[in-house]
Amino acid sequence: MTPNNPSQLPQDQQRIQFNTRLGAIATTVGSAIGLGNIWRFPYEAGTHGGGAFMLCYIGFIIILGIPVVVAEFMMGRGTGLNVFGAFRKLAPGTSWHYLGYVGILASLMILSFYSVVAGWTVEYCWQSAIGALDFETADEYHAHFDEFCSGNWRPLLWTWIFLALNFVILIRGVSKGIEKMSNILMPILFLLLIVFCINSLTLDKASEGLKFLFHPDFSQLSSKVMLGAMGQAFFSLSLGLGCMMTYASYFNDETRLVKSAFLTGGLDTMVAILAGVIIFPAVFTFGMSPAAGPTLVFEVLPSIFHSLPFGAAWSTLFFFLLFLASLTSTLSMSEISIKFFIQEKGMTRRGATCLNGAIALVFGSLCALSFGDLGSFTICGMTIFNLFDYVSSNILLPFGGMMIAIFVGWKMDRGLIRNELSNYGQHQVRGMGFLMFCIRFIAPVGILLVFLNSIGII
Ligand code: PFF
Repeated sequence: MTPNNPSQLPQDQQRIQFNTRLGAIATTVGSAIGLGNIWRFPYEAGTHGGGAFMLCYIGFIIILGIPVVVAEFMMGRGTGLNVFGAFRKLAPGTSWHYLGYVGILASLMILSFYSVVAGWTVEYCWQSAIGALDFETADEYHAHFDEFCSGNWRPLLWTWIFLALNFVILIRGVSKGIEKMSNILMPILFLLLIVFCINSLTLDKASEGLKFLFHPDFSQLSSKVMLGAMGQAFFSLSLGLGCMMTYASYFNDETRLVKSAFLTGGLDTMVAILAGVIIFPAVFTFGMSPAAGPTLVFEVLPSIFHSLPFGAAWSTLFFFLLFLASLTSTLSMSEISIKFFIQEKGMTRRGATCLNGAIALVFGSLCALSFGDLGSFTICGMTIFNLFDYVSSNILLPFGGMMIAIFVGWKMDRGLIRNELSNYGQHQVRGMGFLMFCIRFIAPVGILLVFLNSIGII
């Protein structure tokens, strides 16, 4: 029933399929949920005025994110191939597959700065375990993080260790084991988030924090806020660089694409909102600044844990699970360039994994030093860390998403689209017209308008 017969494909391209529908969804959600929800969302919301950002973010998830997730799913499962192969198979003899380069570039940039933050989670897990995160005031937590980052060596070392772990798992091809483990542990992370959420709601200035997050102040709405919210929506859904496409190539014929896209988008957004509800009441109660930037969560969370009974144990467990969530995300983004090096450049898996690791090691080190000795080295007013984060999330991912929506909306065969959405006639597709309207018009035009608005053209 699938359009391509797996047994006719070359061995490295044969379709491996998820055994269960739950496995397919859990792995996709595993890629989506990570530091983007718990670290990046609160700091982006904090620096972009809270409520106005939140409103745009949720709006973009619904009108741009979910339709583009469905578009990537259709291309991935419809071809059973990665981003280059999918474009080539669906539009042979055209230049569409060059879009794959945008995905490779974005994945390497994200891997570089993401590994630094993942390294911070390992440091904080370790420090919690040995009881070294025991301070009284917000200023002390701030100074502690500052001292760690500006010390250069420790952040560098943790970035390298994290990348080495990523490398070993990828080269041994044991990522499936990690994913299985994380499928068991991620629900625990979810439960922990709910517990911390309830705790935050009992804090003195909880209402101030909630007002900041949920009450949009429209005077704050600007092109910068919209671009930031759009970038966050794409980053959080691992969208626009071929990651969702690659995962969908493993889906079986039973997986319902639209339902899965809603589930992925819904769970991912829920985790981000939970993180916001944990962080902002604490920010206001402990007298911190919501606009602290990338370091926000690492200063606020330890203060929350400190106020809880058995704080060190909660803290160790939480940072460990956060580290695991980031690992499932980096494994998925590394796979994009590794597959490219193998399938397009004829490299061996070992060679491809080494090259991916070497690039991330060099650029990850520069990102790690952005909070230390390279802090004064800026390009367009941004440190290397901030530049990588900004360019990949706010430009490359939405651009990739826009092109995927245009491709699926205007170029992909309608019969294949109908088959993919209905699982080859197994069920009726309600709302296909509306979905296709979103993919053909709303997503590309919406992304273009935000881009034009951010460079001051409209
Ligand atoms: N979506 C992940 C997160 O929110 O942490 C980050 C991510 C993973 C981005 C995989 C891109 C990607 F290909």
